[in-house]
Amino acid sequence: MTQDELKAMVGEAATAWVQPGSVIGVGTGSTVNCFIESLARMPERIAAAVSSSEQSSLRLRRHGIAVLDANEVESLAVYVDGADEIDGLGCMIKGGGGALTREKIVADLARQFVCIADESKLVATLGRFALPVEVIPMASALVARRLRAIGGRPVPRHGFVTDNGGLILDVHGLEIGDPPALEAEISQWPGVVTVGIFARNRASVCLLATPQGVRTIKF
Ligand code: 5RP
Repeated sequence: MTQDELKAMVGEAATAWVQPGSVIGVGTGSTVNCFIESLARMPERIAAAVSSSEQSSLRLRRHGIAVLDANEVESLAVYVDGADEIDGLGCMIKGGGGALTREKIVADLARQFVCIADESKLVATLGRFALPVEVIPMASALVARRLRAIGGRPVPRHGFVTDNGGLILDVHGLEIGDPPALEAEISQWPGVVTVGIFARNRASVCLLATPQGVRTIKF
């Protein structure tokens, strides 16, 4: 089975977690794009979506799905999004697509985070995938020094500006043994907008695409 087939399969499976007529959170990335395509084919459409990126908003609107501002909703039943890595407790690294800040906001609005991924994303310890950190431009050198001091190798993502006008540092070489602690630590540094560790907003469910079918892991 190809990577694209795995993504299409798990994107389709995620629609089972969506109540027709509800307002849901929709993430960002190639796996989520498959989810949006499946959503568009649902006979009873969702009422609207809160999206984590301009890219997903565009795709949703192209299918006639209304997109609400996050400020218009108090909570969401479910948020469906991909991940770059996910561990056995549902903690994730996210932000490979650079949408981590809005992803964390929408995840925080949701009562359930349904992570959709293929089995290559399931890891014992987070950190092989470079950890994205969104920073305010004037603080990028300061934050990079701090990241080096904890053993990371931050690499600026060249030519990339987030939907919020921030920059991304991709941090290599971190073995993240305690995701909640590292998330809390980096989040409080001045100039950090968002760190791509999702421990506080970890997945409640992971739908994992395998050649044998979709495996459901509940955390
Ligand atoms: C975007 C993300 C994505 O969820 C993550 O990068 C996974 O993307 P894909 O489904 O394309 O592998 O965090 O910021």
